Amino acid sequence: MSKIAVLPGDGIGTEIVAEAVKLLRALGEPFELEFADVGGTAYERHGHPLPEATLKLAREADAILFGAVGDWKYDSLPRPLRPEQAILGLRKALNLFANFRPAICYPELTAAASLKPELVAGLDILIVRELTGDIYFGQPRGRRTAPDGAFAGADEAFDTMRYSRPEIERIARVAFEAARKRGKKLTSVDKANVLETFQFWKDVVTEVHKDYPDVALDHMYVDNAAMQLVRAPKRFDVIVTGNMFGDILSDEAAMLTGSIGMLPSASLNERGQGLYEPSHGSAPDIAGKGIANPLATILSAAMMLRYSLAKPAQADRIEAAVKRVLAQRLRTADIAAPGASPIGTAQMGDAVVAALSN
Ligand code: IPM
Ligand code: MG
Repeated sequence: MSKIAVLPGDGIGTEIVAEAVKLLRALGEPFELEFADVGGTAYERHGHPLPEATLKLAREADAILFGAVGDWKYDSLPRPLRPEQAILGLRKALNLFANFRPAICYPELTAAASLKPELVAGLDILIVRELTGDIYFGQPRGRRTAPDGAFAGADEAFDTMRYSRPEIERIARVAFEAARKRGKKLTSVDKANVLETFQFWKDVVTEVHKDYPDVALDHMYVDNAAMQLVRAPKRFDVIVTGNMFGDILSDEAAMLTGSIGMLPSASLNERGQGLYEPSHGSAPDIAGKGIANPLATILSAAMMLRYSLAKPAQADRIEAAVKRVLAQRLRTADIAAPGASPIGTAQMGDAVVAALSN
């Protein structure tokens, strides 16, 4: 029986994960769901954003369904105790190096996107973000001159950007494989004109390309990629990039789809174990109001069924149900047309359950 670790986290995390859990239970599969605290919630209850018990559960599970972490109220905590350290710690501890962030513009939502409909209609791109290296995890990092590492009194801070050949090779392979199953076009995004780390990235991706002659590869500087994403996003099929650039470009790509509330993500390790989370954050400003869009989390659960639990037919069922619900014009506030009356988080979850085919 597949074991799923359910980590709702902070802010809207609990509300949206509850809807995905409702749906998983409606599938009629014998999943074992086990819940644990993570993020600011875990810090308050156990003194640490990623308690040992949560990490243990995550390690043992076949897959992790994750909500979101973070709240401004924790901004003054020392970095190791901030909620974000929970997700960074899980990624690192489980070696979840491959992050898939699809950006799909559903036909029903074309009008909700920030760009002109003709630019985004039919958009279907996949960002493959490297997730356990780069400046996020570079050493050394710190502040200098403060004698004890204290924040006050330092006059310099630094983080180091680094990638090793094996780290680049494995994410490049994942991206080439993904491109092979789609439009056979891969764009590697770097900053090779300035950064040594990304010249190396470009060289290694070019070498790996020799094993994938059926996939067309191009290279693009990150500043240009940011521009092309809003100028002509449909020119992309699969984008592969480092941790930092992928963080930024995936938020940008999200807005091409109508709402970041629609975007799922999967973070996988070499064993196929994965963490599934919406691409959006904890949105503390709307937490507890029951208005958040649960579809990104529901679609993340579909990715979980496909990539970690070997249930592709169930994943298809969920995705079809989401499309049906959108076709029925049911919308949470983030994707509602001006003047239309939106439905709440739980109503959206119920609607997807009701739309499941048998
Ligand atoms: C994301 C988030 C995280 C990141 C934060 C919460 C640490 O922005 O998943 O994109 O920067 O990776
Ligand atoms: Mg981000």
